[in-house]
Amino acid sequence: ASGCKIGPSILNSDLANLGAECLRMLDSGADYLHLDVMDGHPALQGGQFFYMHMMVSRPEQWVKPMAVAGANQYTFHLEATENPGALIKDIRENGMKVGLAIKPGTTVEYLAPWANQIDMALVMTVEPGFGGQKFMEDMMPKVHWLRTQFPSLDIEVDGGVGPDTVHKCAEAGANMIVSGSAIMKSEDPRSVINLLRNVCSE
Ligand code: DX5
Ligand code: ZN
Repeated sequence: ASGCKIGPSILNSDLANLGAECLRMLDSGADYLHLDVMDGHPALQGGQFFYMHMMVSRPEQWVKPMAVAGANQYTFHLEATENPGALIKDIRENGMKVGLAIKPGTTVEYLAPWANQIDMALVMTVEPGFGGQKFMEDMMPKVHWLRTQFPSLDIEVDGGVGPDTVHKCAEAGANMIVSGSAIMKSEDPRSVINLLRNVCSE
């Protein structure tokens, strides 16, 4: 692989200074920003790096607001909708790229039928909810299976990924790395981002 794209998750950052935190990460070399949205949280605006991870119960209702706010990609959870096909279509019609996420308890076979219609699969490596949780290595077979079946699909991992765990993700075939606390809590986010990226090109 020629290096993963690194998307810091700002869930662990200083939310009162979100704009500054986003800029700090882009200045530190982030390829994109992984923005976690939960029910009740406000949206953001502007830019070309905004990849939304919608951990919400009704993802249908936020497509248009996020598009208007300037989101570039809209990732929803397969578990949260009864009609993934319609949602994929709506996201595209609103000019955003499509990401499809599965929680740890969801087997990858449920995602497979949609793989050719999406831009990115997100394999969660923790239960969605908050940063700083322990990486679930037993999710790696899902990543590996997807990589084998869909060689050109972008595959993102999210949850507990940092310098100690990223090599397992890269080996399995992930090419988009979300990392929250490992980057945000570092005094030198640039070096962490570079380290994470370089593991993918080894
Ligand atoms: C978890 C979120 C993640 C989280 C990652 O529910 O989707 O994006 O912020 O944080 P770390 O890397 O600390 O697990
Ligand atoms: Zn996330």
